[in-house]
Amino acid sequence: MQRLDRILSEAGVASRKELRAMIRAGRVTVDGAAVTDESRKFDETAVRVTVDGSPVRLRGPVLILLHKPAGYLTAADDPKAKTVMDLVPEAYRKLGVMPVGRLDKDTEGLLLLTNDGDLAFKLTHPNHNVFKTYIAEVAGFLTMSEAKKLERGVDIGKHITAPAQVEIISQSDSTSVAQIKISEGKNRQVRRMFEAVGHRVVALERTAI
Ligand code: URA
Repeated sequence: MQRLDRILSEAGVASRKELRAMIRAGRVTVDGAAVTDESRKFDETAVRVTVDGSPVRLRGPVLILLHKPAGYLTAADDPKAKTVMDLVPEAYRKLGVMPVGRLDKDTEGLLLLTNDGDLAFKLTHPNHNVFKTYIAEVAGFLTMSEAKKLERGVDIGKHITAPAQVEIISQSDSTSVAQIKISEGKNRQVRRMFEAVGHRVVALERTAI
């Protein structure tokens, strides 16, 4: 069950503000009867809705899996920089999809976008323990004991990180590569975790959520 204005905004009809005016003006019918209260709830999978007499094709929530390239900001819009929304086709932008959490400008990889607020909340709230997997290339030789420290939790400044899983993929004096799985989403968390054990992250990619 969803509010009528939300059902219509997810269908890409108009913005929530415009829809409120349209509904109050009696331009919207549900199962043949005009509904003038935008907050009334309906099962969007079971009703027939019209706007100005034309049927509206309803669609459920949308989930997009985007491979974010480095160089794009995770933001709804920005006056200067390229944002991930520039990579989303207009048809989906109109449905009100927004990024779930964020990846830094220089981080690439999996970014989810959705117009389903409940799903976004479940995926980002720390209590839900959703693990995110990253491949990090770091400067210098990453030792097993440093990897174990990362797993137990490190101080990234006013926060000790929750238990993580770390697998070293390659090691050399110049650079090392590791896979790290974390359940939290603090700002620049993976970079700050490796810095806490003395390694600067050179490249970072998220491979799974
Ligand atoms: N951790 C980071 O440091 N950066 C990201 O973009 C995501 C997690």
